[in-house]
Amino acid sequence: MRSIDELDVAGRRVLVRVDFNVPLERDGDNVAVADDTRIRAALPTIEELRSRGARLVLVSHLGRPEGRREEDLSLAPVLARLRELTNASVALAPGVVGDDVRAMTEALRDGEIMVLENVRFEPGETTNDPRLAAALAELGDFYVNDAFGAAHRAHASTEGVAHLLPSAAGRLLEREVRTIGAILEDPARPLVAVVGGAKVADKIAVIDRFLDIADVVIIGGAMCFPFLCAQGHGVGESLCDEEDTQHARRALAKATDPRKASVQLPEDLVIADRFAADAEHRVLDSVEVPEGWMGLDIGPATAERYAATIAIAGSVFWNGPMGAFEMEPFAAGTRRIAEAVAAAPGVTVVGGGDSAAALAQFGLEDAVDHLSTGGGATLELVEGRELPGIAALDVSGVAS
Ligand code: 3PG
Repeated sequence: MRSIDELDVAGRRVLVRVDFNVPLERDGDNVAVADDTRIRAALPTIEELRSRGARLVLVSHLGRPEGRREEDLSLAPVLARLRELTNASVALAPGVVGDDVRAMTEALRDGEIMVLENVRFEPGETTNDPRLAAALAELGDFYVNDAFGAAHRAHASTEGVAHLLPSAAGRLLEREVRTIGAILEDPARPLVAVVGGAKVADKIAVIDRFLDIADVVIIGGAMCFPFLCAQGHGVGESLCDEEDTQHARRALAKATDPRKASVQLPEDLVIADRFAADAEHRVLDSVEVPEGWMGLDIGPATAERYAATIAIAGSVFWNGPMGAFEMEPFAAGTRRIAEAVAAAPGVTVVGGGDSAAALAQFGLEDAVDHLSTGGGATLELVEGRELPGIAALDVSGVAS
């Protein structure tokens, strides 16, 4: 993967794909960025290119507007935050491509920044239409992809355009690929994977990969119930379906092979009579969930055992919460795991939106070695899949 070191950007327009797909908060007519992590994560590339005299044209998607302009998905609120963070005057283009926009890029001076409107306002973005890729290519002399969170999408701004301009990976994309790659390829051992969340089906490829390469796979969140069900336990009203139980059964069978990772499952739970913050709830000293009850968190003994495993890990990869942590009565398991990961002496990598949100809720986001900005992209990288946004940089053959 070519790095921006290899591009001679002084006085040239650089089209930089960033992932500014950030949560917004609306208060009447006021719209603001609710979490600027992804904007801050793009700053090293932006600042480095500016300091080298580049003229920056930033391009990003926001939400899923499906190929038409939707004013409430304008990048204007993101721009406001970017101005504060860079202390620069940043201009917003009236649209994504076209003569007006190209004229704006040509009027940029060294070190200046402009931002295109939400690239998904164009129908050709998600279909990777070559005409949109060509129109985007007219807006830069170089292309830099720093949108790790969107690298699993083969879209015009993440894939198509990379073939049309001399291209390179930005600093964030480089760091994500290097750090996640290192924990997969040459981890300090033992490698402990902590996998939580709701559905086994969504994460089975990740669990499979970790069964192959890790030493221990810890399972938490609602996805522990298909595993417990596969072991013959009653799960009451907990989330659990047949497809997930089959995946869990296969994973447990694989884990009996001594060359594969072992699987750790809960021994106790926090159960509730319904999915609500004010539900009746209690600690269950076993994993035999009574009828009429559902498991909404791992129990305290499980949390301590998991934390002890994390404490002696050489490397930890964590994706997915241990319970319904957004409701205080069911947050303790996720909090204990977040604290354990934060305190772990080994290398710690956290990926996925929910785990990042959990770390932020407990004020621990700066206590891990690497907090990935990717959701789906991180999972696909862990699964060992080729990410189109990265592959396009590797084969981009246009000479600089
Ligand atoms: C994300 O938030 O995971 C990325 O920005 C990709 O967004 P998408 O799932 O809408 O493609």
